[in-house]
Amino acid sequence: MAEYIIKGGTALSGEVEVHGAKNAVLPILAAALLTPKSTILNCPKLSDVAVACSILEHLGCSVSRQDDCINVDAGQLVSSVIHENLMREMRSSIVFLGAIIARCGQARVSMPGGCELGPRPINLHIEALEKLGVKIVEDHGYLDCTVPDRLRGASISLDFPSVGATENIMLAACTAQGETVIHNPAREPEINDLAAFLQKAGAKIYIGENGTIYIQGVERLNSVQHRVIPDRIEAATYLCCAAITGGQVLVKKAKTSHMTALLPLLGEAGCRLEATEDSIYLVASERPKAPKIVRTMPYPGFPTDAQSPLMAMSCIAEGSTIFVENIFESRYKHVAELARMGAKIKVEGKVAVVEGVPGLHGAEVICTDLRGGACLCCAALAAEGQSRIKDIYHIQRGYQDFEPTLKALGADIAVI
Ligand code: UD1
Repeated sequence: MAEYIIKGGTALSGEVEVHGAKNAVLPILAAALLTPKSTILNCPKLSDVAVACSILEHLGCSVSRQDDCINVDAGQLVSSVIHENLMREMRSSIVFLGAIIARCGQARVSMPGGCELGPRPINLHIEALEKLGVKIVEDHGYLDCTVPDRLRGASISLDFPSVGATENIMLAACTAQGETVIHNPAREPEINDLAAFLQKAGAKIYIGENGTIYIQGVERLNSVQHRVIPDRIEAATYLCCAAITGGQVLVKKAKTSHMTALLPLLGEAGCRLEATEDSIYLVASERPKAPKIVRTMPYPGFPTDAQSPLMAMSCIAEGSTIFVENIFESRYKHVAELARMGAKIKVEGKVAVVEGVPGLHGAEVICTDLRGGACLCCAALAAEGQSRIKDIYHIQRGYQDFEPTLKALGADIAVI
C-alpha cells in the first residue's frame, strides 16, 4: 500500500490552487438524480467522487468525466438500491437516500454503520424522511424505504444542524407536494451550494436570514449546469502547512468569506495574512504562537474538519492550545500518532490540551482518517528528519494532487 516519505524542515513557499469542494460535489452528484442532465464543473479528482459516480452508474445513470467536468444523464434509472460495498467505501453515500426516494418512490440502502469518527448515527435523516411520508423498515442491515402515498412537505426541526440530514431533506423535499420548512438546518457553505444547484434546476428553495430553509415542492426539475464552490478545508490545510513550516504561501481560487473562523486563529498564531475575496497570502512567523482555544462548531463556527491540521501547528507553537471538539465523538485519533513525533497532547473526552514543544521529530505514523492523515503530513513537514506516513488512501479521499502540490511548494515528499 502506498505511503508518503516526508523529510521535514523546509519552509513552504509558492502558490496553491484550491480545487472544488468534496463536501459540495457529493450531495450535488446525488441531486443529479433529480434532473434529466447535469453538467457539474470544478469537480475534484478524488476517490470519494469516484465512488459517488459509481453509485450513479449503478443506479442506471450514464456518467462521463472530462478534466474537472462531470456530466450525468439520469434519464433512465434501473435500480433504487445502494449495496453494502459502495456504502462501506464512503459513509456519506447516505446523502443519496433522499434523492433516490424522490426519484423512484422507494430506496434500499445498506446501513452506513460506524466509521473512524465514531458511531455517526443517521436517526435525524430517518426521522425527517418519515415526516415527509417515507416508510422506513430495517431489514438485515439495509434500510427499506417506500412511499405509500406520495412525498408531502412537512415542518422539520433538527435537534442538531446535521449537514447530511439537511441535504437529504432538501433532496427529498424539492419535488414533494407542498411546503417543507427545515428549522435549525446546517448552514455550511456546501448547503448553499446544493441549494444553488437545485434552484438552477428549477427548485423553489429559499434560505431565510436565520438559516431556516423553505422549500416549495415542484413537479420536476430541469437540466442544469453548475460550478462547485472551492474547498475551504483544502485551503485551510495548505494554510496550516505554510504556518507550521514558517513559510509563505499564496492560496488561490479560495473563498475567503467561507474561512472566517480559521483566519483569526492563524492571525493569533502570528501569521501575516493578506486576503482578497478569492485568495489568501500567508506569511508565517518563524515559530507560531499558540492560539488559546479552538472550539469546533457548526458553521459559521470553526470547522471540525480543520481541527486536526490546526492541531499540528499548535504542537510546535509557543504556548498551549485548548481544543474542544463539539461535533464528533472520536475525532482525536491523530493525537496518538502526533505523540510519536514528540507532540505533548492530553485528551479528556472532547477536550485536548496541546502544550507546544520547540520541535517535532520524524516518525512512522498511520493515517487514522482523512483529515487526521493531512494533519500528520502537516506535522511531518515541520519535523526534524524523516517521517513515513502509512494508509494514505485516507488522504486521497479528500485531497487532489496532495503530494505534487506540496512538492511544488518545496516540500521533500515522495510516494512509495
Ligand atoms: C459532514 C461532512 C464532514 C464534516 C461534518 C460536520 C460531508 C460529506 N461530510 O458530515 O466532512 O466533518 O459534516 O461538519 O459533507 N448526527 C446524529 N444523527 C444524525 C446525523 C448526525 O447524531 O442523524 C451527529 C453526528 O454523529 C455528528 C454530528 O451530528 O456527531 C454532525 O454530523 P453531520 O453534520 O451529519 O456530519 P455529516 O453530514 O456526516
